Amino acid sequence: MCVWDGKNGKGLFIVFEGIDGAGKTTQAHLLVERLKKHLRDAIYLKEPTNGPWGEKIRQIATHGREGVTPDEELDYFIKDREEDSKQNIIPALQEGRVVVMDRYLYSNAAYQGALGFDPEMIFEKNRHFPQADAVFFLEIAPEGGLKRVDSRGGANIGFEKIEYLQNVYGVFNGGHNGFKKMVRIDATKSAGEISEIIWQKVLPLLK
Ligand code: TYD
Repeated sequence: MCVWDGKNGKGLFIVFEGIDGAGKTTQAHLLVERLKKHLRDAIYLKEPTNGPWGEKIRQIATHGREGVTPDEELDYFIKDREEDSKQNIIPALQEGRVVVMDRYLYSNAAYQGALGFDPEMIFEKNRHFPQADAVFFLEIAPEGGLKRVDSRGGANIGFEKIEYLQNVYGVFNGGHNGFKKMVRIDATKSAGEISEIIWQKVLPLLK
């Protein structure tokens, strides 16, 4: 059964969000390691995925938006999530695993919201996908995030220009209802400190 039935069952769904350079990938992997040490079966997943829609999205990241309309871009992310939900997220939750997700529908609302779409409309389009039990938003200013991205080899041209990221950051912080679920964490702290803060919030959720 690969349609979300409104419950995550014995599984647990944890999402990491933030702008580029916030440290999501590091924290997601640290959490998976800690969960495994705690004898919980956990998997790391990321969006965009490495599937066919994710590949199309990566073209935008490396070549820019030329020839791709905002509607098409939004559609690629939704189709990618549709596949990810059916093939990976829902089966894992049904097996009782902890799914640790590096970017999800909140990035959709903020990044495509920054293209001019109403973030609430994007949340609505994402309503039938599995919803997270916890969402950690690693908060860093766009300038700081981009500095980190540059230091590890340079920004991609489609999604990581400073003006665009400032708009994305503005949407993430714009007070839309859908973002209220996010737990905000200061991403300028050390990786170890952040990991500990997150672990203390995850522990009570482990069933
Ligand atoms: P990716 O190349 O995987 O970069 P990162 O490692 O920083 O996550 O992702 C490409 C970009 O996709 C990233 O800058 C954020 C963007 N994105 C959206 O615009 N909408 C979405 O729904 C998602 C999941 C990501």
